[in-house]
Amino acid sequence: MLKLSNAIGVQVQNALERAFPEATTTALANGKALNPQLAPASKPEFGDFQVNGALQLAKQLKQSPRHIALAIVEQLKTDEAFLSLCNSPEIAGPGFINLSLKNECLETEIKKQLKDERLGVPLTSQGKDKPIVVDFSSPNIAKEMHVGHLRSTIIGDSIARILEFRGYSVLRLNHVGDWGTQFGMLISHLKRVAPSALTTANAIDLGDLVNFYRQAKQRFDNDVEFQDASRQEVLKLQNGDSEALKAWHLLCDQSRKDFNQIYKRLDIRLTERGESFYNPFLKNVIDDLDNSGLLITDEGAKCVLLNGISSKEGKPLPMIIQKRDGGFNYATTDLAAIRYRFSESPKGDGAQRLIYITDAGQANHFTGVFQIAKRAKWIPKGGHVEHVPFGLVQGEDGKKLKTRSGETIRLRDLLDEAVGRAEKDLRGRLKEEGRKETENFIKHVSNTVGIAAVKYADLSQNRVTNYQFSFDRMLALQGNTAPYLLYALVRIAGIARKGGDLKAATEKLEFNEHQEFSLIKELLRFDEVIVEVEEELLPNRLCTYLFELSQVFNRFYDQVPVLKANEPSRSCRLALCRLTAKTLKLGMDLLGIPTLERM
Ligand code: ARG
Repeated sequence: MLKLSNAIGVQVQNALERAFPEATTTALANGKALNPQLAPASKPEFGDFQVNGALQLAKQLKQSPRHIALAIVEQLKTDEAFLSLCNSPEIAGPGFINLSLKNECLETEIKKQLKDERLGVPLTSQGKDKPIVVDFSSPNIAKEMHVGHLRSTIIGDSIARILEFRGYSVLRLNHVGDWGTQFGMLISHLKRVAPSALTTANAIDLGDLVNFYRQAKQRFDNDVEFQDASRQEVLKLQNGDSEALKAWHLLCDQSRKDFNQIYKRLDIRLTERGESFYNPFLKNVIDDLDNSGLLITDEGAKCVLLNGISSKEGKPLPMIIQKRDGGFNYATTDLAAIRYRFSESPKGDGAQRLIYITDAGQANHFTGVFQIAKRAKWIPKGGHVEHVPFGLVQGEDGKKLKTRSGETIRLRDLLDEAVGRAEKDLRGRLKEEGRKETENFIKHVSNTVGIAAVKYADLSQNRVTNYQFSFDRMLALQGNTAPYLLYALVRIAGIARKGGDLKAATEKLEFNEHQEFSLIKELLRFDEVIVEVEEELLPNRLCTYLFELSQVFNRFYDQVPVLKANEPSRSCRLALCRLTAKTLKLGMDLLGIPTLERM
């Protein structure tokens, strides 16, 4: 309904300006048009839109709000184009105007929507040639991917899908932690305890690797000699020593295999471009910062002092760019990455916008890094950088999600458990309903429901807040859950199985029941929701919409006969079922959630 509400917006604006020509001229001369404040109706009883501006305009126009509202309505009543879309406007309260769409107008809109593969969502008109980088997932080599990475992966993928659907070219980058001190520790430790891991593929698995890493870290913290050896290994690696590089490759491959399994299960596309990629550019970062006069030396470390951010002692906070021992760190790599991503190809990505999806705990890191990049003039005119933070994943006890023995939960186990519980629920339901299904069907449905439930539970929360992970809640058939939405789709597929021709041509559409119109209005909101989700990068808004759509659909289907209705109502209602299924499917697809025909 975006086009329609824009059109009505223009009509209302024109009506206000025709009603108050002098004030309009004065306002425009001051650079600010009179604002009628058109908004969606706050309650369905008020119609579809309301004009709220009269109260605020009263002072400026030196008239009562009611008089202003009357004058606007007078003008609207002379506008043919407006009258073809809306019923006669009504004034409510001290000066609000309620607008409601004509049934014929809704019917025309729904006919258009039925033919439109994009369901009304416009393609972006700007900057298709310059990519948007979405930096997400980004786990660390030799460590297990944890639930924080899961959140980043799920949210990042959905944001990338929505931007892609809007027509942007999106670069999905996996900024894996594959460089730095940890490799020095790991290599020197493995040299002593498991040298084969450094020369032979698959000598150890990721579980071993994680354990070795833990041991190495402990040793590093307690053993000066080991620290030295580790630093030597890092240097060797940074200088391209072939043995060290080989060992590093093997270790990365081991982790990568594990990560890729998770990505495959979750249906995630990502381009791996880890921290190591930026190694050749780190020196340029230092030189550039030095040349722009931003670099200072503090106790041997090269730093930039951050503006407006102070330390506990009230002095400007330094961000370390090069450590005293010459090593670089997380921030240096991120600075090199920004510089590279904005540089024109072939020396960079030529991006227009960078979006980083990490936990909120990294907010200060990104504030600092973005500030330095700006001051170093690495962000071109029109370029944007954004940190998209998310809260913690908590257990049902409200504490950080852990296994019973207090360890970090492995993602593989978490997904297995979701699928396992979905399977148990499904087998129970089949038994109850006396249904017989093949093992293949059971496996397929449980897998889809389990994965969908995990993804949806995460996406349906406002990402900024912490969220409580609960298998029971996410797998429930009732409430704002994946199974509830999947079930609405299954219901519609069932209508087709029972002989409803969902594809029947519908040239003439006619509706009479309020349940039909509620569903129509809900269906027509899709484009607005997508544009809003894109602006705010909040996929939970799309979830809420899909949940509401399913509810409105279920109400419609429970209260109005479809298959048993007489023509032409039968065909018209089947068309609404078809459009509901298309909308739910597309919406779920933009969330990265698989759907089913039967469950
Ligand atoms: N590897 C980091 C972590 O596990 C996340 C990286 C996010 N991306 C970035 N460009 N800093 O916390």
